[in-house]
Formats: sequence, C-alpha cells, structure tokens
Amino acid sequence: MCPFQTMPPRQPPGWRNFRMDASMDLISSPQALRDTCRAWSKAGLTIALVPTMGFLHDGHMSLIDEARRRGDKLVVSIFVNPTQFGPNEDLDRYPRDLPRDLALAEAHGADLVFAPEPGAMYAPDHATWVEVPELARGLCGASRPIHFRGVCTVVLKLLNLVRPDVAVFGQKDWQQLAILRRMARDLDLDAQLMGMPIHREPDGLAMSSRNVYLTPVERAKAPAIREGLLLVRAAVAAGERDAETLGRMFGAHLAQALPGARIDYASFVHPDSMEPVARMDAATLFAVAVFVGSVRLIDNILLEV
Ligand code: PAJ
Repeated sequence: MCPFQTMPPRQPPGWRNFRMDASMDLISSPQALRDTCRAWSKAGLTIALVPTMGFLHDGHMSLIDEARRRGDKLVVSIFVNPTQFGPNEDLDRYPRDLPRDLALAEAHGADLVFAPEPGAMYAPDHATWVEVPELARGLCGASRPIHFRGVCTVVLKLLNLVRPDVAVFGQKDWQQLAILRRMARDLDLDAQLMGMPIHREPDGLAMSSRNVYLTPVERAKAPAIREGLLLVRAAVAAGERDAETLGRMFGAHLAQALPGARIDYASFVHPDSMEPVARMDAATLFAVAVFVGSVRLIDNILLEV
C-alpha cells in the first residue's frame, strides 16, 4: 500500500459541515469535480483554476483574484499533495486551516473549492508519474529529488479533472512554473498557464505558508534574503556580469545580515531552461533557497541586462 493511503485525515474535524453560502461549492470527490466542470464547459463557460496547498495568504489571493478575472467560473484546489514531499520533509506539520481558506476563497469569488483526501487522489496502486528531469535537476530539485515529479503529477491530474482554459501559478516558485510550462507544451495540454509576480510582506519577505514556522527573531531578519537579491540586481545594473562574483556578494550580505542562515543554493540560471549561467549576457534568473533555522525559504529575481 502507498504510504499516503495510510495517513490520517488532515482536515479539521467537522470540516465537511462547514456552512457556506449557496454560491460556493465545496467538493472532495474527483468525479464530482469533473462532472461539475464538464457541465460548465458544455454550457459554454470558461474555467480558471488556481491549484494550492491551502493555508492561503495574500500571495495565493493575488492568483485567485487574477483567475477570477480570467474565467467565467473559478475553481480553487486545496490539497497538501503528499507525493511532492520527501520522507524527511514537513508534510505532517504543513500548516492547514480549511475553514479559513474556504471563507477567503469565497470572499474572493471562487465558485468551487476542491479539497480532496489523499486517498481520493491516489489509488493504492497509483503507478504513473510525470517528470521533466532536465529542468528538475538543479535548484530545488537538487535537494528535493522527488518534489517536481509529485508537483507535475498532481497538477496534470487537476488539469485533467477541471479542463480549465487558464491555470494561474506564482513566480515565487519559478522553477515549478518553468517545469509545468514545459510539461504543458510537451504533452499538448490546452490550458494556458499564467505566472503572477511574487507577492511580498511590506518588509520585502516573499509571502509563504511556511513563514509561520519562523521564530520572531528569524522573521525580523528574513527580509535580508530579498535585500540580497536587490543588491545583486544593483551590481548587475552597475555592470557586473560574473555569476560567481555576484553569488559571493549575496553570500557576504547574508552572512552579515542573517547570521546562522545556511544557503541551500544561490544560482544563476536561464529563466526557461533552468540551465546554469556563468556570465550574464541575457536575462537571467537569480534563484535562492535559504535555511533560516529549520525553515527553508525560497525567493528569486529576474535580472535584465
Ligand atoms: P502552494 O505553495 O500552496 O502555492 C500555490 C500557488 O501560489 C503556487 O503557484 C505558488 O507559486 C503561488 N504562490 C505562493 N506564494 C506566493 C507569493 N508570495 N506570491 C505569488 N504567488 C505565490 O505551489 C504549490 O502550492 C504546489 O506545488 C501546487 C502547485 C499546488 C501543487 O501541489
């Protein structure tokens, strides 16, 4: 039996009884999701999808608001997808608050929230995986070897169930978006995949469901990551083109402003192919992952030259 089949239900007790306005549906069955979306499509309505793992914050809401404008019907999925977490990652403690998420989704105009149990998404003998290895080797893929396989597989499943006209993702997870776009192109998916800019706290920290893990001291210092990205951008604007030099600049800034933090990666890559870039002769993505205490935070910046 698959490990994710045996996991206890993760929704808070009584979540199925959550009272909602008649205007938003809460669906946990994949077949019911498919039936509803099929009926909408048959009626000539366009559908926009925002896949999430819940614990919604303003970053998610910026995607949801954009999707609201892009489709006649708006579907938000809330599913902490077990197959994208490695054995020593935070699946069990990933933050969850379905009642709050439902209220937020509804307030932002969602027509349907899809919140399945893991067992409804993965049969005990689930055996099919979608991978884009060339783009998944570096950056987050280097320390999370099965992560993007799980992401691609669950997103393809969601796209197949909903058949949306447009699906909206965040550029905070740039590598994820690049991989999903390659998957969509290679497999002839007809949904348009949209990328939205990184939504930040007022002090510059990229919004993330994982920010709640930070201690107050860590949280106060975490904007140093964004400051490091801006420092590198300023150096590029001033003419520096050597990735190694720029990377050292970022490291030196973190060592001083966020002592104790550990850089998982700080990489210069081509924004579509994710291939490493040594010298910046064209637009380049600078993507970083930093452990602040036990919390791994990611951020990135597109460097135009
Ligand atoms: P999750 O981390 O919940 O993120 C859902 C979507 O919100 C992703 O497209 C992500 O890039 C976007 N997002 C998160 N923080 C953001 C921010 N600060 N600004 C803008 N967008 C932001 O990413 C996932 O879930 C999962 O891997 C998923 C795609 C749902 C597959 O399980």
